[in-house]
Amino acid sequence: MIDKIKELIAEADAFKAETKEEVEAFRIQYLGKKGLLNQYFAEFKNVANEQKKEFGQAVNALKKAAEEKVNALKEELESKEEVKGVYGDLSRPGEPVNLGARHPISIVKNQIIDIFSNIGFNVSEGPEIEDDWHNFTALNLPEYHPARDMQDTFFIQTNPDVLLRTHTSSVQVRYMEKNQPPIRTISPGRVYRNEAISARSHCFFHQIEGLYIDKEVSFADLKQTLQYFTTQLFGKSKIRLRPSYFPFTEPSAEIDVYWGLETESDYRITKGTGWLEIGGCGMVDPNVLENCNIDSKEYSGFAFGVGIDRIAMLLHQINDIRLLSENDVRFLEQFKSAL
Ligand code: PHE
Repeated sequence: MIDKIKELIAEADAFKAETKEEVEAFRIQYLGKKGLLNQYFAEFKNVANEQKKEFGQAVNALKKAAEEKVNALKEELESKEEVKGVYGDLSRPGEPVNLGARHPISIVKNQIIDIFSNIGFNVSEGPEIEDDWHNFTALNLPEYHPARDMQDTFFIQTNPDVLLRTHTSSVQVRYMEKNQPPIRTISPGRVYRNEAISARSHCFFHQIEGLYIDKEVSFADLKQTLQYFTTQLFGKSKIRLRPSYFPFTEPSAEIDVYWGLETESDYRITKGTGWLEIGGCGMVDPNVLENCNIDSKEYSGFAFGVGIDRIAMLLHQINDIRLLSENDVRFLEQFKSAL
């Protein structure tokens, strides 16, 4: 009988289980009310006296082996469950990571920044909520100047001194106030105008303006810079500067790029002329330099501004400006492969 018990101890030691049910069955078999151990304990009284000691020790050893096994298996299974709880099924196939996409406005903005960084321009930024001085007055647009009506302004509440900037030229004023020439900076940012919303125009959009101030800067430098820019961005080097008016530049011009008339869409976007307007430019008015504490007898400079939204629409064949601010994922997803 003692040999049988020793066998059982060896079996208990070797027992393995995968599930809680198996452990419970093992426990009942050994330690349950009608289990092996109780049977042996009942047997005790029938054992011959001289064997009682050895028998008792063997049964106790079996009890100990069975209890230890049950406890060890329970612990093992519980810790496995914990791991499962945290990580789920570790053998399941991985979930694909959904990559985001840059917004087309950011893509084009970064492209333009890169183009100008290559020729020594830095990037400057300013607040979207501006005061009258930086958005208008310093830019040669004193109060009651009729050109203020060119840009329908959103004012903040009833305070006419606080407004949403109508162009990023305000950043240039801030930059000139803090830095002396030579200045080469571009200022990208969102601007606001109280315009009716349609497929072609929105009440907010994005501009990027450039400012170059140094000794003996000429209109030819402006044209060269713009030509470099359009060649890099569109691969088109033919531009034309059409006389225009801005209060802060003199002389002023609209920038047209020769887009060509090769495809049907070329006809549509250039209205059959082949020319496409992309922004405004001019030589910084000496009054503006003086307003920003720059000596206009020593320094001259040029400035230009282009609309990022229009350029993004052009480069990515987007036919409605509203798509740029609706955040429709089906639209935004299409720019995954872009920069
Ligand atoms: N600030 C002008 C606008 O928003 C654009 C411009 C910038 C024109 C710089 C000339 C020079 O319309």
